[in-house]
Amino acid sequence: MSRCMTVPKLKAFKGSTHRIVMVTAYDATFARLIDLRSVDAVLVGDSLGNVIQGHETTLPVSLDDVVYHCRCVSRGLSGPLLVGDLPFMTYQISAEQALASAARLMQDGRASAVKLEGGERVSGTVRRLVEAGIPVMGHIGLTPQSVHEFGGMKIQGRSPDGAQALLNDARALEQAGVFSLVLEGIPRALSAEITRTVSVPTIGISAGPGCDGQVLVLYDLLGMDETFQPKFLKRYAHLAETIRSALDCYANEVQQGVFPSDEHSFD
Ligand code: KIV
Repeated sequence: MSRCMTVPKLKAFKGSTHRIVMVTAYDATFARLIDLRSVDAVLVGDSLGNVIQGHETTLPVSLDDVVYHCRCVSRGLSGPLLVGDLPFMTYQISAEQALASAARLMQDGRASAVKLEGGERVSGTVRRLVEAGIPVMGHIGLTPQSVHEFGGMKIQGRSPDGAQALLNDARALEQAGVFSLVLEGIPRALSAEITRTVSVPTIGISAGPGCDGQVLVLYDLLGMDETFQPKFLKRYAHLAETIRSALDCYANEVQQGVFPSDEHSFD
């Protein structure tokens, strides 16, 4: 399926007044709802490990999992750019491994681009992917695959050394050829500085308003889990409550013999 949003178009938003809108998605039904709204890019994130599979972290997510959900999303999407996330340990072992994993996301998952986590230490791999014609979205800051290295989900770049390291990461990825950069869990002044420094669009999550765009996990912005309440999250709907009351209503009508009525029955 050829999509309206392309990697060059998304990259060209840098320096324009257009703020990039990205959301995650994991299935065709939500993809159809997202399609042709004002969304520029859809990420099949390894956050599916949390919101779909119920894991504590994203580490157990496999390449097959992301390929499967990418294919599902691709069937419902015609407008936004489809980006597939490379899960933990599907690109860190070697550039060859990263090439093979990215190829699966693009060939079997029908993604138009891939995203991977890490800065300077993955820049050689990013360069190899880009040289092979694979568009890469970088991801630095509070990268969830490094949760154990960080000792928890902690905002990154708060110390002067930490901030400098993230600036170096951003520059290394830019030079390696990423077409955009997710900034996650970074103080707002630092993400604004990174955004001013690099020539590719930055897309923030928990990184303040100074980025070229924003991304949120779909289930979070829809309010599907009331127990998840991080400071950065704004809920644009309260679907958990809506879903619960729909299910109560359905159960009640079945128990009372109200559903199915004549209207929902065949002669
Ligand atoms: O996996 C994911 O959904 C992500 C976004 C939150 C950026 O990496």
